[in-house]
Amino acid sequence: MIYETGAAVAGRGSDLLGDVGGEALARQGAGRSPASFGAAGQSTPLLEKLARSYWTEPADYAGVGQSPTSFGAAGQSPALMDYTDRSGELSRRASAAQPTLGGISVESIRSDFPILSERVGGYPLIFLDNAATTQRPNCVIERISRYYGREHSNVHRGAHELASRATDAYESARSAVARFIGAEDAGSIIFVRGATEGINLVANSFARPTLRPGDEIILTQLEHHANIVPWQMIASERGARLVAAPVDDCGQIILSEYEKLFNPRTRFASIAHVSNALGTVAPVGEMIAIAHRRGVPVCVDGAQSAAHMPVDVRAMDADFYVFSGHKACAPTGIGAVYGKPELLERGVPYQGGGNMIEDVTLERTRYQPPPRRYEAGTGNIAGAAGLAEALEYLTRIGMREIEKYEDALMLRLVSALADIPGLRVIGGLDARRVCAVSFVMAGRTPEEIGRRLNEYGIAVRAGHHCAQPCLRRFGLEETVRPSISFYNTFNEIDRLADALRVI
Ligand code: ALA
Repeated sequence: MIYETGAAVAGRGSDLLGDVGGEALARQGAGRSPASFGAAGQSTPLLEKLARSYWTEPADYAGVGQSPTSFGAAGQSPALMDYTDRSGELSRRASAAQPTLGGISVESIRSDFPILSERVGGYPLIFLDNAATTQRPNCVIERISRYYGREHSNVHRGAHELASRATDAYESARSAVARFIGAEDAGSIIFVRGATEGINLVANSFARPTLRPGDEIILTQLEHHANIVPWQMIASERGARLVAAPVDDCGQIILSEYEKLFNPRTRFASIAHVSNALGTVAPVGEMIAIAHRRGVPVCVDGAQSAAHMPVDVRAMDADFYVFSGHKACAPTGIGAVYGKPELLERGVPYQGGGNMIEDVTLERTRYQPPPRRYEAGTGNIAGAAGLAEALEYLTRIGMREIEKYEDALMLRLVSALADIPGLRVIGGLDARRVCAVSFVMAGRTPEEIGRRLNEYGIAVRAGHHCAQPCLRRFGLEETVRPSISFYNTFNEIDRLADALRVI
């Protein structure tokens, strides 16, 4: 069945799913000739401006109101100043220096990732498609192999040695996830295939049973399709509506408009922590507090945040938080849902089968307590073991170190892009971005740019990034989206900029 979206969408807030492209285009001048997109208007005081907006104003770092206390006295990292002062002596020293994360050099980190030594078209691979998926370090690859070589069996069943090894691998992975995101304990972690399945689970098991005709679910204009379509499906079935908090021209949620969307019919809110298309960061701490003042539970889509910043689900007071392992150096096909323990007790499983039952007769089934109640069938045991290994690897480097280094990389990336004639950064230059940034170039389609960059061994995503309503808010159907990880280098950013100048 095809779920028609328009009818289920409320007229208030932004029209999340209608054809807003034309309107947004006219309003923002996005339809003007591509030749008028230039670096000129973007770049003049850029570094200064970016440095200020990234580093000297207290940012909502993990969405929990933490400020970057470890940075310099003025709130600005000395290392960052080195990297951004490109015209001076500091810059020359910074370029020669080997950046380190928590005392580990980036070169040494890179050597953990075999795929980064690949060559593409005769050039060293420059992997800048990390918002789509990250690469895996050797320890994760080896963990999968060790699991299958020495530990594999099914879990929770059987009383033999291998069943114990597999169960230990699976359940200790649950604890590793809980530690990584600051959850109460392993019991609040449900394994799923990834963020998409996680949101489907939250929508079906926790929101759907509460929905009555005319009820509303709040999203934002930043969502990717995984945080839209599952909500549309349950809204359409229940006669409920979706409304979306609008974003401003910088890709920032307009909090006052978000707040106005709440009313007695609001049942649930689901918001992206970081936009996969723009890289902008939602103030989730404030957004959750606003929702909780009205008794509305919130699901945070952490697909683009978990691997890029420290996350503490209890500090942010998220009711649910979902993320994908494959965007955090872990295998594909594994991810997790965090749910507050009291909410997990009340949910209704939406998939039935083995593993999730306590007792079955032909007339009725008694379910396991959470989290197993929500895990029908055999899970991705090897994936869970790999996920634990990946999260421990990230923790060894340090999520605060990763965040700091990626912030500096992003600063370099945005400033390099803004210097390229004919290139327009979507959402402007002032926003703090995490992992991803989108742009368009005069006279070139995104697809063509992606293809030409590939000829230089540079991998970026070009297209709609599974976030069509978000791009349409900016009058666009497609963009080019480079996205970084902690194993990228300043040199790679510079090579991307060089390539963009010559293609
Ligand atoms: N959601 C993934 C992306 O942003 C696939 O590319």
